[in-house]
Amino acid sequence: MRRDILRIGVVGGGRMGAGIAEVCARAGLDTVVCEVDAMAARAARERVSASLDRAVRRGKLDRDSARDALDRLAFTQALEDLADRQLVVEAVVENADAKTEIFTALDKIVEDPGAILATNTSSLPIMRLGMATGRADRVVGLHFFNPVPVLPLVEIVASLHTAPGTVAAVEDFATRVLGKTVVHARDRAGFVVNALLIPYLLAAIRMAESGFATATDIDAGMELGCAHPMGPLRLADLIGLDTVASIAESLYDEFREPLHAPPPLLQRMVEAGLLGRKTGRGFHVYDAVRQSDI
Ligand code: 3HC
Repeated sequence: MRRDILRIGVVGGGRMGAGIAEVCARAGLDTVVCEVDAMAARAARERVSASLDRAVRRGKLDRDSARDALDRLAFTQALEDLADRQLVVEAVVENADAKTEIFTALDKIVEDPGAILATNTSSLPIMRLGMATGRADRVVGLHFFNPVPVLPLVEIVASLHTAPGTVAAVEDFATRVLGKTVVHARDRAGFVVNALLIPYLLAAIRMAESGFATATDIDAGMELGCAHPMGPLRLADLIGLDTVASIAESLYDEFREPLHAPPPLLQRMVEAGLLGRKTGRGFHVYDAVRQSDI
């Protein structure tokens, strides 16, 4: 018998976590977002609020629905506040140790043994996170795309231990409840989308690094020549250059292919704190006021 998932927890309120929380709240679900401290929790709330305002401005949502969505969201700094959740989606930084620690803690905190623990990881093995818990059969990859309220895809990734019932439950949740479209991927670094996207972004970074073409021309090439909504360097800035570097490292660890090796320019930019939109500068410069916007 299908059990509706009504109470959601999201760990991490950055761009992805806030986006996931927003689509859950907009779908009518009681959603609790957990952040590391009060300031981060406030920033997460502002991120969701700014995105809801944008949806209203763009005519995608009426003002009452935006207010109702915000009312369905709670923000906390205590993982213990996720005890009664039926589905928790982890969306913290792309770091294996940080994610493993959260899964170990969630396994102890989330009371319902049938509750599902999902990860929004873009590249880390689901199996490793599942094995950090006593319920690997209820651990699954649920990978959203940035900006979450706009992009319709969710990748579902089952580990060797994930139960078919878990996959069916999150597929029903993503499609029927959130209105997303699902693709299934095996538990290999990068899944479907990042396995294709990251080598392309790294190739663009190498092209800029070599002086072969400017960042503006590389982006214009793909926007105007191939009708991509954004060129590769603008997209890397949107994803966050630290995240692009982390995903590249996971892919390189898994496959040892030179095409996955993060180029020196990417590493230097991350070290310099030039992380893209979120810091106001990456391959392009951004208006600080619009950082919480798309
Ligand atoms: N809620 C709902 N809809 C919204 C919204 C919101 N908060 N904000 C904007 N929209 C809608 C707009 O109404 C518009 O819809 P319309 O075309 O039907 O009118 C659409 O979204 C686009 O919005 P804008 O016109 O304001 O913005 P742009 O046209 O400049 O598009 C963009 C911005 C959506 C970011 C677009 O450039 C794009 O799709 N870029 C590519 C993004 C991409 O590839 N993301 C994937 C990254 S990979 C990833 O996330 C995986 C990770 O693991 C790395």
